[in-house]
Amino acid sequence: MLRLLWLMSIWALCWVGTNSEDHQLIRIPMQRQESFMATRRQHRAGKTSLYAKYNLAKGATAMVQRSSGASEPLDNRQNLEYAGPISIGTPRQPFNMLFDTGSANLWVPSAECSARNVACQHHHRYNASASSSHVADGRRFAIAYSTGHLSGMLAQDTVAVGRLVVQNQTFGMAIHETGSTFLDTNFAGIVGLAFRSLADEQATPLFQNMCDQGLVEQCVFSFYLKRNGSARQGGELLFGGIDAKRFTAPLTYVPLTHADYWQFQMQSVEVDGKTISQGRQAVADTGTSLLVAPPREYLIINSLLRGLPTASGEYLLRCSEIDRLPEIVFVIGGQRFGLLPRDYVMQVANDDGSSVCLSAITLMDTDFWILGDVFIGRYYTAFDVAQRRIGFAPAA
Ligand SMILES: *[C@@H]1O[C@H](CO)[C@@H](O)[C@H](O)[C@H]1NC(C)=O
Ligand SMILES: *[C@@H]1O[C@H](CO)[C@@H](O)[C@H](O)[C@H]1NC(C)=O
Ligand SMILES: *[C@@H]1O[C@H](CO)[C@@H](O)[C@H](O)[C@H]1NC(C)=O
Repeated sequence: MLRLLWLMSIWALCWVGTNSEDHQLIRIPMQRQESFMATRRQHRAGKTSLYAKYNLAKGATAMVQRSSGASEPLDNRQNLEYAGPISIGTPRQPFNMLFDTGSANLWVPSAECSARNVACQHHHRYNASASSSHVADGRRFAIAYSTGHLSGMLAQDTVAVGRLVVQNQTFGMAIHETGSTFLDTNFAGIVGLAFRSLADEQATPLFQNMCDQGLVEQCVFSFYLKRNGSARQGGELLFGGIDAKRFTAPLTYVPLTHADYWQFQMQSVEVDGKTISQGRQAVADTGTSLLVAPPREYLIINSLLRGLPTASGEYLLRCSEIDRLPEIVFVIGGQRFGLLPRDYVMQVANDDGSSVCLSAITLMDTDFWILGDVFIGRYYTAFDVAQRRIGFAPAA
C-alpha cells in the first residue's frame, strides 16, 4: 500500500514536471532521507564510506581512527541523503536510486542474490529473466566499500528515467553484497553521474548515453537539493538543462580540470576573513552529505571554530555558540559562495541519547576539497558535460 502511494506520488510529480513550459527538461523528484544525520554513528559511517570511495579511486589515505585499531560497528545509514526513481527492463522494474556525481557506474541488486544477503533482500531486485530487453554481457564487476564489497555480472537493458528511455545501458547486477553497507538505505542501487574514465569496465554512464542517444536537448544536468526537504519533496535532479527559477544570481561557471570526477579549480577558502586555503581543487559530489578539507585546512578550520578535539578524532562544537560561528566562504570563478553555521553544523545524537554539535567538515589525506550536499544544497549546481564545466548559483 505504502509502495503504491509512493509510486503514485512520484507519478504525480513527474506529471507536474512534464506539464511545465520547459518540457524539454526531465525532472526527477528527490526524496530526502527523513532521519538524516540523526546519530553520531551515522556521521562516522558517512565519513568512513567516503574515505573508502576516494581511497580506492584516488589513492588518498584515510585518516580515521588509526590509533584505535578496533573496528567500530557502523550504522548503515551513511547519510546518503537523496534518492530518486528509475526503472529497468521490459516491462519496467522500478528502483529507488542514489544519484551520485562522485562515481560513474550504475548498479542494482540482482534477483539472483542469495537469501542470506540481507541488504539485497531488503530492496527491489532486478530479475533478468522477467525482462524481454535484457542482454547478458558476460563480464564481472566488483566495487569495494569500506564495510564490504559488491560484485556480480554486467548486463545491458533499457533504463527509463522520467519519460526518457535509454537503450542498451550497461549496468551491474549485484549478486554478492558482503557487509551491511546498503542494508538500511532508502535506495536500492546507485546511478553514477561522473565520467566514463572513472567507471569500472569503462561502462558508458547513464547520462552520457542520454546525450549520445539524443534524448536530452542539452548535455547538461543539474541538482536542486532542499536542505530541509522531506521524503516527498527533497528537491530535484534535472536532466537536459537548468531551471532558472531554482536559483537567484547567474550561474558562475568554471572549467573542469579533470573529466573523471567533477573536479575544478577553486581560488581560495576564507574563514572569518582569513584565507585558509589557496589554489586547491575541489570535487562536487552529490553522493556525500559532508565537506572534506585537506589535512592542513581541516586543522585551521577547527581551531578557528574553536572545536574541542575528542579521542576519536572529531571536533565538538558548543551547540549554544553556533550562531556566533563564522561563515566559511569558497571563492570559485571570482564569486564568493558562503556557508553559514546553520549550513555546516549539525546536531547529532550520542548512543546514550544526549546530543552534540559537529561540523560537516571532515578530512582526508588529499590535496583537494570535496563539496557534498552541504554545499550543493545551498548552491544550485549545473553539471555541464558538453562544455566540461560546472556552474554554481545560490539556490532559490
Ligand atoms: C524472475 O522472473 C521469472 C519470469 O517472470 C520468474 O519465473 C521467476 O520466479 C522470477 N525470479 C525471482 C527470483 O523473482
Ligand atoms: C542497441 O543495441 C541493438 C543491438 O545491438 C542495436 O540494434 C541498437 O541500434 C542499439 N540502440 C542504440 C540506441 O544504440
Ligand atoms: C525550510 O522550512 C521552513 C519552515 O518549514 C520554511 O519556511 C522554509 O521555506 C524552508 N526552506 C527551504 C529552503 O525549503
